[in-house]
Amino acid sequence: MKYAFFGAGKMAFAIIQGMLRAKVCAASDIIASCPEPELLENLRDATSVNVVTSNAEAASSASVVVLCVKPNDVGTALGEAGSGLEGKLLISIVAGQKIGSLKSLAPGARVIRAMPNTAAMVGRAATAYSCDDTVTSDDEAVAESVFSSIGEVYAVEEKQLNAVTGLSGSGPAYVYLMIEALSDGGVACGLPRKLALDLAVQTVIGAAEMICATSEHPAVLREMVTSPAGTTMAGLRELEACGVRSAFTEAVCAASNRAGELSGE
Ligand SMILES: NC(=O)c1ccc[n+]([C@@H]2O[C@H](COP(=O)([O-])OP(=O)(O)OC[C@H]3O[C@@H](n4cnc5c(N)ncnc54)[C@H](OP(=O)(O)O)[C@@H]3O)[C@@H](O)[C@H]2O)c1
Repeated sequence: MKYAFFGAGKMAFAIIQGMLRAKVCAASDIIASCPEPELLENLRDATSVNVVTSNAEAASSASVVVLCVKPNDVGTALGEAGSGLEGKLLISIVAGQKIGSLKSLAPGARVIRAMPNTAAMVGRAATAYSCDDTVTSDDEAVAESVFSSIGEVYAVEEKQLNAVTGLSGSGPAYVYLMIEALSDGGVACGLPRKLALDLAVQTVIGAAEMICATSEHPAVLREMVTSPAGTTMAGLRELEACGVRSAFTEAVCAASNRAGELSGE
């Protein structure tokens, strides 16, 4: 199977690297296009994929097109491909671009709309995707293989994609902020800055790994480490008093609502 990537930026690069690492296909089966020759050269040097500056040329040699351009460039990128997308599988990772709008810009294409996140760059993304009703089970298997090469994949209904954007799409930024705050707490209590940051990062990785490894609900794991009148209880009381739990919940809802606004709902 041949894949064309429209866009050669951060996400295209991460997905292509993931696909090659997972041997989804050979580098010679991928062709990437974007207007900037320098970006294409960097991509080719790093991955050995084929590159061209014409989207139409890229699409002509592929049966799957992965759309990795910024939201404002979608109309131009798909317009440049013209009728070259007819009968092909179009997988879009563009935030806020709905399946209906993609189908009107790429008539005759079968469309899968996906929302990965920035952890694609380290092969640990959480990606959710949704299909239009012309997508076949083979198409879905293609999308699963592409996105499982950069992390975990979940099929959802399109109406759930705003919530996905608010949670896992924007979520890495919430966790960065949390790590920064934890590390500042360590510094406030006298730890050197680097040690505080390393401890905060490892604590977040370790806690997430504990949930994956045990399949326990986080509340159960939290209770297991909270002794009566102990240090963790003292910390948790402060978090609850500051409204941290509801702050995270409201952050997801606010980002989800904003995703809806940006996609014209
Ligand atoms: N970054 C994330 O964590 C993340 C997560 C989920 C979804 N997304 C979505 O992924 C998409 C790409 O994000 P990114 O971070 O990879 O952006 P990026 O690094 O800016 O890459 C965008 C690429 O699109 C190219 N491009 C512009 N116009 C084009 C056209 N007409 N035809 C073909 N290529 C064109 C750009 O080339 P030039 O530089 O020459 O303009 C650039 O190579 C966005 O829609 C975003 O919503 C991103």
